[in-house]
Amino acid sequence: MTQRVLTTESGAPVADNQNSATAGVGGPLLLQDQHLLEKLARFNRERIPERVVHARGSGAYGYFEVTDDVTGFTRAAFLDTVGKRTEVFLRFSTVADSLGGADAVRDPRGFAVKFYTEEGNYDLVGNNTPVFFVKDPVKFPDFIHSQKRDPFTGRQEPDNVWDFWAHAPEATHQITWLMGDRGIPASYRHMNGYGSHTYQWTNAEGEAFFVKYHFKTNQGIRCMSSEQAAEVAGSEPDSHQTDLLQAIERGVNPSWTLYVQIMPAAEAADYRFNPFDLTKVWPHADHPLQRVGRLVLDRNPDNVFAEVEQAAFSPNNFVPGIGPSPDKMLQGRLFAYADAHRYRLGVNHTQLAVNAPKAVPGGADNHGRDGLMATRNGSRHDKNYEPNSYAGPVQTDAALSAPLALYGHTGTHPAPPHTKDDDFHQAGELYRLMSDEEKSRLVANIAGGLAQVSRDDVVDRNLAHFHAADPDYGKRVEEAVRALRED
Ligand code: HEM
Repeated sequence: MTQRVLTTESGAPVADNQNSATAGVGGPLLLQDQHLLEKLARFNRERIPERVVHARGSGAYGYFEVTDDVTGFTRAAFLDTVGKRTEVFLRFSTVADSLGGADAVRDPRGFAVKFYTEEGNYDLVGNNTPVFFVKDPVKFPDFIHSQKRDPFTGRQEPDNVWDFWAHAPEATHQITWLMGDRGIPASYRHMNGYGSHTYQWTNAEGEAFFVKYHFKTNQGIRCMSSEQAAEVAGSEPDSHQTDLLQAIERGVNPSWTLYVQIMPAAEAADYRFNPFDLTKVWPHADHPLQRVGRLVLDRNPDNVFAEVEQAAFSPNNFVPGIGPSPDKMLQGRLFAYADAHRYRLGVNHTQLAVNAPKAVPGGADNHGRDGLMATRNGSRHDKNYEPNSYAGPVQTDAALSAPLALYGHTGTHPAPPHTKDDDFHQAGELYRLMSDEEKSRLVANIAGGLAQVSRDDVVDRNLAHFHAADPDYGKRVEEAVRALRED
């Protein structure tokens, strides 16, 4: 085998990688030592901004295979034939902690899928929970600030966490989910993924449907108790990464079955609650799960930084036949992600291999040009404007999804009225579904946090939410909090 030679960034051979160049033996360093200067400067620039949320994550490649005919509901080409396979990249993540945190924590998990379809990349950027804490994007930065480190103490503060929730009754459902058994998955393989939002599908006839995505794990749900998690987080901070990496290296490829709930578009206006409210699930009795396909992960990335850290998922990367619903949270997210990518990775992040579309040879075909680190600028004869007379790419004139009928005046409106819109009913239903042991663990987890809050009014406002969800739930949390606070 030929011996490889160590080189500088410009490819010249490096003579000595053990000793810097000095003025004489024991003298000061020389500015002309290109290798040393380059090495130190390059090292200083290894970090890029971490994701403002979901900073810590793990990713893998695989495929999605259609198992059931859904062409009656969407004209998305990657879903048009049973048996068709599409390459995917999936990044899992925790939400609140920074890159250096631990995996085994009580936190939602991100479940972001990039489908490299023949019509462009489709990103489904979901979580392992079907609901979320708030339902208007204007609240999102405040919510995240309250859950991350306090600007003065530099620590996550129960006062801030619970003060925000005291003012967000709509969070009661997601809090009940998060503080329950599923709040700490045993690994990324042993949890479900959800699109969470309502999306719109449009079929070839132009008929519109609202859909919710459910990826059910085929490994079975496994969770950790708070005590187990504290131990694992301390002894093996990268536990989820290790589990995913090693399973795929061993050829034990994790898989999920994708189901959708489908609501004909005309039903939405009169549904008993707002079907675009991210704090609510659609009862399966109203809209049963319909199987779509199977997602399998079978290949680890070669380089975590290049492919996982620099992966960019955006909820507004749709393909024809799939589009957004009027869910306000989703609408806010349609802006937030690509904006974050331009800041975190730069304007040409779509040219990185993990993000580049595979639909068109050479990546996207448009007239976006230049910018920092551009590598794709069209071929030498391409014009950089449209329309042109030189066989450049043209628009299709085919709408991506069905139009929405709208009415009313602009303004900062609350959600449209439906007969049964309240913040507590589904939280109560989730509580009542639990066994007595599950309820006890849920109550203990909530009380453990809430009892640390310094202000009585904040505690009381939170207790009122649990009482409103279910009288027994409220009573048990209240008793547990009072007992801990009297200790
Ligand atoms: C990551 C914003 C709600 C799932 C992010 C990032 C931002 C963001 C800025 C970092 C993106 C990057 O740097 O690449 C928001 C805003 C939200 C919101 C403004 C509400 C208005 C949600 C919801 C979900 C979600 C409801 C799930 C249903 C994720 C996931 C990631 C992420 C999975 C990580 C994606 C990856 O692996 O790269 N979010 N988010 N977010 N968000 Fe959200």
